[in-house]
This record gives sequence, C-alpha cells and structure tokens, in this order.
Amino acid sequence: MRIAVYPGSFDPVTNGHLNVIERAARLFDRVIVCVMVNAEKKPLFSLEEREGFLRLVCAHLPNVEIDSYGGLLAEYAKAHHCCTIIKGLRAGSDFEKEFQMAMINRRLNPDLESLFLTAEHQYMYLSSSAVKELGFYGADVSGLLPPQIVEQFKQRIRNISDDKENEK
Ligand code: PNS
Repeated sequence: MRIAVYPGSFDPVTNGHLNVIERAARLFDRVIVCVMVNAEKKPLFSLEEREGFLRLVCAHLPNVEIDSYGGLLAEYAKAHHCCTIIKGLRAGSDFEKEFQMAMINRRLNPDLESLFLTAEHQYMYLSSSAVKELGFYGADVSGLLPPQIVEQFKQRIRNISDDKENEK
C-alpha cells in the first residue's frame, strides 16, 4: 500500500490545499493530511480547529485521513509508513524553501521522497496568509476558502478585530 503524507500549517485550509489533496488522493492508496507546527508562524486557529476544518472539507475523500503532530515530519512519516511527502508548489518563491525542507527530510529519513504537485493556475498565488490578510481588511474570501469554513473564518477575524478594538 502506497501511503503519502501531506504536511502543512493549514491555517486555514484553502481551496489550493484542497486541490492538492484531491489530486494526491488519486495518486496514492492513502493520503494522511497532517497539521504540523511551523516554528516561523503564529497560527490564527488551534491545531484542533485546523484538523476539524480539514475533516469537514475532505469528508468526500474516502482514502484521505486527517491527523496532527507536533514533532518532526520525517519521524512522523516513518512511524506511519509513509513513502512520500506531498507538497504543493506555487509561484517561484516556494521553491527555495521547499527544496531545503526536502533535503533536510531526506537526510533525516533517506527512504522518504518529496513529491511536488504544481498549483493549478487559479491557485498559483493563493496562501492562507494572503487569505487572512484579505479577511482582516474585510475583503471577500469566497472562492479562496472551501465554503464549509468561510463563516467560521469570518467569525474568528471579527473576534480578533473586536479584541483589538477593545484593547485601544
Ligand atoms: O504550510 P507550511 O507552514 O508551509 O508547512 C510547513 C511545515 C509545517 C510542513 C514544516 O514547517 C514542517 O515540516 N514542520 C514540522 C517540523 C519539521 O519536520 N521540520 C523540519 C523540516 S525543515
């Protein structure tokens, strides 16, 4: 059985992520989407919330499982018998960082391959960070996020904006 892991912050999952998950699910017997910690980011949603969003939007994919892990990806992949790491690759800026991570993961676990799925053109510039920024400016994020999570996303943005307002 070919098992792949698709790791990420997913803060929150976007339509670009979902597109990669759907394509990976066609390539592998099982795909584990794993919410992980990116030490460089301060997330808007908790690990559990991000997992919950992924469960909701991947419910139609029978060979996709959702998990979370706070340790190293290479360790997780080994423990869960994953042969491949899936990553989505957007416009040029992703390449250097992803190349470095692939090398590090391979050094930690030489049996592990990284497989990059290029983003569909409509998602080429889509990122969770961009969606969050748009959200904070009150811009329309429909079409960027899966419809099942749009309301919860807007609510979180409203709560944070209200908290900031009250702090003034
Ligand atoms: O969606 P992101 O933030 O680009 O995902 C990055 C992520 C979470 C996959 C990466 O930070 C990661 O693999 N974190 C787990 C810790 C780890 O294994 N670090 C070593 C890779 S350099």
